[in-house]
Amino acid sequence: MEVILRTKDLTKKYDNRVVVDNLNLEIRKGEVFGLLGPNGAGKSTTMNMICDIVKPTLGSVEFMGKDFRKNRKELVKKLGYIPQDLAIHGNLKAWENVELFTSLYGIKGEELKAAIEESLEYVGLSERRGDYAKSFSGGMKRRLNIACAIGHHPELLIFDEPTVGIDPQSRNFILSKIKESNQNGATIIYTSHYMEEVEAICTRIAIMDNGKIIACGTSQELKRLVTKNEEDVSLEEVFLTLTGKKLRDY
Ligand SMILES: Nc1ncnc2c1ncn2[C@@H]1O[C@H](COP(=O)(O)OP(=O)(O)OP(=O)(O)O)[C@@H](O)[C@H]1O
Ligand SMILES: [Mg+2]
Repeated sequence: MEVILRTKDLTKKYDNRVVVDNLNLEIRKGEVFGLLGPNGAGKSTTMNMICDIVKPTLGSVEFMGKDFRKNRKELVKKLGYIPQDLAIHGNLKAWENVELFTSLYGIKGEELKAAIEESLEYVGLSERRGDYAKSFSGGMKRRLNIACAIGHHPELLIFDEPTVGIDPQSRNFILSKIKESNQNGATIIYTSHYMEEVEAICTRIAIMDNGKIIACGTSQELKRLVTKNEEDVSLEEVFLTLTGKKLRDY
């Protein structure tokens, strides 16, 4: 299967503390790849390095067969990043937020107008297009955050914890939209510490802890690492067995 993104020995240190440790990931074209790990595992730092927002201490990222940093201008247009920390502006209207981000990719005029409408429609915010983002609920802000990253029709979409702190209805809406984007041809990287979500939408899952990938495979393959009968265990238990830690503190 064709590899769309590859990290090579990707490493980040802060003050000599290794937070991402020599990561060699391969994301295959057309898959929904889940990165599952507890708070502080290094998921967001990894995504920020993949998108060239954080500079790696060591290593590199290859996207569509080319070095990302060296071909940033060309490759960034094929990538959509939905960051964990909302990137929207409260004092801009919903459509103005989408315009701001979509225009960064060089989309203009009628094409830009159409992209704004399409993106707002996609996340179910068309009717609130003229409202200020600061007036939105948490779930609506998350949806607007997604609209800002899809107007340029990226081939790879990276979602960093897109469902944190929102109601179940918005959560289900977002998960169904991610599946739909994948069915429409986009490759997805999905980062979460919610095991159920990762299991529901991801074709392959990497379990990350302390900056390292400790296991990678389908949900069934991961469960087989700890048991002969995968129906006996949850991914939560796989994580506990492999790391001696709970995935989440309740
Ligand atoms: N700018 C920074 N300076 C210093 N340390 C940082 C910085 N950014 C992240 N870290 C540290 O790197 C580690 C990994 O953080 P990161 O945000 O990547 O984890 P995460 O897996 O995304 O966690 P969460 O599930 O809470 O979002 C943490 O210990 C964090 O404190
Ligand atoms: Mg994070």
